[in-house]
Amino acid sequence: MTHFLDIHTTSPGDLRGIIDNAAAMKSARAGLPKGTKDADQPLANQMVALIFEKPSTRTRISFDVGVRQMGGETMVLSGKDMQLGHGETIADTARVLSRYVDLIMIRTFEEQTLLEMAEYASVPVINGLTDRTHPCQIMADILTFEEHNGPIKGKKVVWSGDGNNVFASFAHAAKQFDFDLVFTGPETLQPEAALDGLYTTVRNPDEAVQGADLVVTDTWVSMHDPQSARERRHNQLRGYQVNKDLMDKAKPDALFMHCLPAHRDDEATSEVMDGPNSVIWDEAENRLHAQKAVMRYCLGT
Ligand code: CP
Ligand code: NVA
Repeated sequence: MTHFLDIHTTSPGDLRGIIDNAAAMKSARAGLPKGTKDADQPLANQMVALIFEKPSTRTRISFDVGVRQMGGETMVLSGKDMQLGHGETIADTARVLSRYVDLIMIRTFEEQTLLEMAEYASVPVINGLTDRTHPCQIMADILTFEEHNGPIKGKKVVWSGDGNNVFASFAHAAKQFDFDLVFTGPETLQPEAALDGLYTTVRNPDEAVQGADLVVTDTWVSMHDPQSARERRHNQLRGYQVNKDLMDKAKPDALFMHCLPAHRDDEATSEVMDGPNSVIWDEAENRLHAQKAVMRYCLGT
């Protein structure tokens, strides 16, 4: 069974294969209308369940479109509508779903839910974001970086802001793809200890971005964070906003990324988001291509 649960639990060789395959599939359909089926139909006759226990725009639509382009069918399910939220165990849900579908993608809260789904499912399971990680996002980010600025190996990536789930997958990727990752953010929002050794911390953002090839940020309040923490987080993170002053201290050709959804003029200014170094729309598009390659990897097609 080949699940795609996290970047650090997938080998560097497999990760590279997924990126290369994504790039090839993207170029094979360049310029075609979005609804055009791929020439190969590797998901023909395959049924894919897309389960969301949290809101989503990009993950939901890019997975759905990707499956259709590859000839498969999807079922988009909200956690609320399933028995999942009403007492049926994850293990039982996984066993039942495995009798109906060929592949499961789940976005959930606790990582344990994802891991239990994978343990008891007899079909592959893909992580569509948990409170701890977001590996599909980072596969799209690597694809995007390499399209614009070549191999990411040896490059300097700077994360400014909250040490959250998206950062965690960047930290895993830093090891697997061999790039340098710097975290700049308040001590109170330092990434979890399990990530120690995968990145370095430079508390001052102006110092941190010097020589950066890529500057990344994300929302200051994630879906799993209590809304009551909003004001406190904003106060702690204000100094880590990605604005033109900060981008000007990185390399002139440094890229700017944000997984989106963004809160314009909080974690990043519109000037940066819409500026010449920003690749956020390519990044969003590449969710589609990267995840198509992830699904093929899981299904061995
Ligand atoms: N970046 C991302 O995962 O977006 P959605 O929450 O809209 O899926
Ligand atoms: N860190 C954000 C990412 C959203 C795609 C969250 O978990 O809400």
